[in-house]
Amino acid sequence: MEMNKHVQLIIILALIVILVSTAQALSIPAKFDGFEYKHYGKSSKDNTIMIEAFFDPVCPDSRDAWPPLKKALQHYGSRLSLIVHPFPLPYHDNAYATSRALHIVNNLNASVTYDMMELFFKHQETFYNDQTRKMSREAVVDRIVNLAAEAVGRSSLPSVQSGFSDRQTDLTTRVSFKYGCSRGVAGTPFFFVNGFLLPDAGSAIDYKGWRSIIDPLVSTKSHERFHFSL
Ligand SMILES: *[C@@H]1O[C@H](CO)[C@@H](O)[C@H](O)[C@H]1NC(C)=O
Repeated sequence: MEMNKHVQLIIILALIVILVSTAQALSIPAKFDGFEYKHYGKSSKDNTIMIEAFFDPVCPDSRDAWPPLKKALQHYGSRLSLIVHPFPLPYHDNAYATSRALHIVNNLNASVTYDMMELFFKHQETFYNDQTRKMSREAVVDRIVNLAAEAVGRSSLPSVQSGFSDRQTDLTTRVSFKYGCSRGVAGTPFFFVNGFLLPDAGSAIDYKGWRSIIDPLVSTKSHERFHFSL
């Protein structure tokens, strides 16, 4: 009898633990994940095409995907809006730290987040697995902090540094990862246009490719919101 009571108690406790951890896994962030690309021009939410890009800062395909997408953004102006979500791939050793750096920099000055991303792309090789195999985690973070100082200014170097010991920046980076998982992202780059996943996920799209995707959407008149191929 005594034993049975113990077993019951253990089962009840286990259920409570499971319930609490499920509730945590479903917690909703206060702010929509990602970094908005800022336009200089009027935009009307009503006729804006929304692109969501999932990039890993140390993924070569993400790096190659950025210049043609940037060119497309410049071409379409306010008709196109973009949110980049960092998505750290587990097989890239420095993906999480560099994704976290994007959040840290974004907190310090949101107008240089894309500069930071471009710096990671430019110096990407120095963060590859092979190139950092013998480096300590601390040395890698040092390298990231120094690069971040180029984007936010050297006076912000201590703030970037302390950002790496701020639990909040860890949590927001986890949210990015979890958001990607919830959308079925399994590699980078993944692109969603108006919420729909583009085919050939995981490869870069060139400028011609973007034109062929966006042109038909832009030319659709407002009373023909739905493409005839439906
Ligand atoms: C953020 O960065 C922009 C562009 O470099 C700069 O003009 C602005 O002064 C910065 N803002 C702050 C608060 O440092």
